[in-house]
Amino acid sequence: MVDQLRLPPPAELALPIGEAMFTLRAIRKFKPDPIGDEQLELIMNAASRAPSGGNFQPARFLVIRDRARIRAFGELYREAWWAKRREGPGWTRVEDIPKSEKTFLAAAQLADEMGRVPVVVLAFSVVRGDLGHSVLPAVQNLLLSARALGIGSTLTTLHDDVMPRVLEMFDVPDSAQFYCSIPLGYPRGRFGTTLRRPSSETTYWDAWMQPPPWR
Ligand SMILES: Cc1cc2nc3c(=O)[nH]c(=O)nc-3n(C[C@H](O)[C@H](O)[C@H](O)COP(=O)(O)O)c2cc1C
Repeated sequence: MVDQLRLPPPAELALPIGEAMFTLRAIRKFKPDPIGDEQLELIMNAASRAPSGGNFQPARFLVIRDRARIRAFGELYREAWWAKRREGPGWTRVEDIPKSEKTFLAAAQLADEMGRVPVVVLAFSVVRGDLGHSVLPAVQNLLLSARALGIGSTLTTLHDDVMPRVLEMFDVPDSAQFYCSIPLGYPRGRFGTTLRRPSSETTYWDAWMQPPPWR
């Protein structure tokens, strides 16, 4: 019997870590193909291996596979996404988003597609405050392990307007703090490469604003 407390690394997660990290990007268009329970178990095992404050392990994940529940969540997700845009740039419909805002246009498309994705994972902490942020390394493990299996994902957030309804929909107690929702599915399209600031711009050496020894 496998000792769940001391899981060995699974052979299926053999993608080189560099490739997983450097090609991990937001996938917002998914094939309808289902994700198997074995794959989901691997992904959740990877999430559960993450570090946490005091090894308290406060992260909890709600894996939603039921079509009707995903559809219902998708409605709330779309409402939340547009609530954020209304409060931010003041956009209320897709035509308001400037053509140059490619990320927002893609994100608006995901807001429409969320109700049809194969799987949604909701990430919570059962502890509030700093320790609760231990959810974030667990989420990163989840994203990277999905990537290693060829499964796409995007970290997404919700809006206070919809939170009570989301919690009620899945019987989540008020004591659990929501962190993010993650759609999962095989990508329509490629993972490709990511466009990020060079680390020479985001890294300081010994003192603030002092450059590191690389360009
Ligand atoms: C904290 C956080 C919140 C995010 N929220 C959303 C979101 O609500 N909707 C969405 O479509 N993408 C969301 N993203 C994904 C980012 O937009 C994406 O990682 C970023 O634009 C880089 O895109 P790329 O991975 O395609 O290079 C979020 C990412 C992070 C880390």
